[in-house]
Amino acid sequence: MQGNKTVIDLLNAQLTLELTSMDQYLAHSKMYEDWGISALHHKLSHEYEEELDHAKKLIERILFLEGVPDTASRKKIHVGQSVEQMLANDLNAEKEVAAHLKKVITECEKAQDYVTREILQTLLDDTEMDHIYWLEQHLNMIKLMGLQNYIQSQMKQHHE
Ligand SMILES: [Fe+2]
Ligand SMILES: [Fe+2]
Repeated sequence: MQGNKTVIDLLNAQLTLELTSMDQYLAHSKMYEDWGISALHHKLSHEYEEELDHAKKLIERILFLEGVPDTASRKKIHVGQSVEQMLANDLNAEKEVAAHLKKVITECEKAQDYVTREILQTLLDDTEMDHIYWLEQHLNMIKLMGLQNYIQSQMKQHHE
């Protein structure tokens, strides 16, 4: 089914953001693993998988709309040098993803592409209710208990 050109271009821009987040989570996840901070390592490997899933959904939709998925482009990733900086950089990345998703959703609305809009809404739900919420909670935990206590609390893997 031939899709709207503006929607396809925006879906590709969204794909670039999801793949960029995926790369950043991979870098941070591996750094946490190296530092022995198991709970953060596992949480971020999970986030990595979720971004991969978001990317897959976008690629499928772009192909369905007869567009060409741009799987090569990336934005610059921001690798932090401390736990707090890494969490803050991930939060910034997620906020950028959320803002762009809203822009694409608005454009889908204009083009009356309601099915694409619904797909994007599930991505926005994951982004706001899971990723952003978790990062805000953890940055707040650092404020509440101090960085050393926070890191200690994340050394062992928790079961969600
Ligand atoms: Fe995502
Ligand atoms: Fe995310």
